[in-house]
Amino acid sequence: MTTQETIELFDKYVIANYGRLDRVIVRGEGCYLYDSEGNKILDMFPGWAVSGTGHCHPRVVEALRKQAGELLHIDNTFYSEPQGELARLLSESAGGGFGGKCFFCNSGAEANEAALKLARLHTAKEKYKFITAEGGFHGRTFATVTATAQPKYHEGFMPLLPGFVYIPFNDVEALKSAFSDEVAAVMVEPIQGEGGINIATDEFLQAIRELCDENGAVMILDEVQTGIGRTGKWFGYQHYEVEPDIITMAKALGGGVAIGAMMAKNEVAASLVPGKHASTFGGNCLACAAGVAVIEAIEDGGLLQNAQDLGQYSMGKLRQLKEKHSIIDSVRGIGMMIGVQLTGPGAAIVDKCLEKGLRINCTHETVLRFMPPMIATKEQIDQAIEIIDGVLSEGE
Ligand SMILES: Cc1ncc(COP(=O)(O)O)c(C=O)c1O
Repeated sequence: MTTQETIELFDKYVIANYGRLDRVIVRGEGCYLYDSEGNKILDMFPGWAVSGTGHCHPRVVEALRKQAGELLHIDNTFYSEPQGELARLLSESAGGGFGGKCFFCNSGAEANEAALKLARLHTAKEKYKFITAEGGFHGRTFATVTATAQPKYHEGFMPLLPGFVYIPFNDVEALKSAFSDEVAAVMVEPIQGEGGINIATDEFLQAIRELCDENGAVMILDEVQTGIGRTGKWFGYQHYEVEPDIITMAKALGGGVAIGAMMAKNEVAASLVPGKHASTFGGNCLACAAGVAVIEAIEDGGLLQNAQDLGQYSMGKLRQLKEKHSIIDSVRGIGMMIGVQLTGPGAAIVDKCLEKGLRINCTHETVLRFMPPMIATKEQIDQAIEIIDGVLSEGE
């Protein structure tokens, strides 16, 4: 099929709810994508943070092949090894005093839905409110889009679910004022991803922990984007002195296969009893086998360390670009989750980078998101920086 023929199929048969680029991607390998015209693209924003271990990691592909030959899916009426094994690995990755239990689903929004429902089940009956932070992003289902405190995502869907209270991110005083006996949970991202790589302060997360404890509420961290090694630790919260009650994850967990998970501390997890929540595909054998392979690939490949080292290296290089290009205001991030704050719009920069064979992203109009896969090399980072440098020079 030609590029044009594939695009025509979409025009005719696929709902046009995404703004798409005029490219058909036919293959992915490691840090590279290949399109139907034979172009090779260095992917520094793989799958919107899904392909954290790169495209088609051999270990994930092998695990999928093996699992596909044995059992694709078994419903949750039965036990299955991949689901149990993935839950163990995740629980051990969190470690410390957390060491929770998992519920599996298929996406980030579903993981957050599960977390919100569990918070309601676990806390006192009169508690029905949720505090979330402005600029956060938690998904597109009704509860998670309501949790997403950004008016642009609410347009056309009013009235939203009751009980959600929004506070400015990192604002401890606003958090204190928003708290009451009716609050069931606070849900925030440790680093806001879609919101523009905004890093939570120690004080903010600490205050959430203390207020939740004082008021019998649950602390939920949305690790859908920060989880599974992207920040150089398994989970973003591990950069802080704070332990949440629930974390949610998805994206990189399946290495490209759809999966989501909610992990809760044992005493909180105990409130999720049969009949209260479920997902037909949750814990699917194929998805869980991929998840196990992702975690083993990160562990055996020393990828957490690589994410830390190359994250530092990338930020250093991007800060050097700031000296040269006045459009760069600042560079912030942890590990391989990096934002470049521009003084003007970034969409045209992203487009020009793609023309030159580099994929990055722009969020909130003025923040370039640079989120390489954890398998990236120094040479690939250098190549990406060189392309960005060239594009910024042309724009001046
Ligand atoms: C932090 C965060 N939470 C939740 C979601 C929603 O995940 P999904 O699109 O898999 O439902 C996203 C997606 O970008 C996200 O970044």
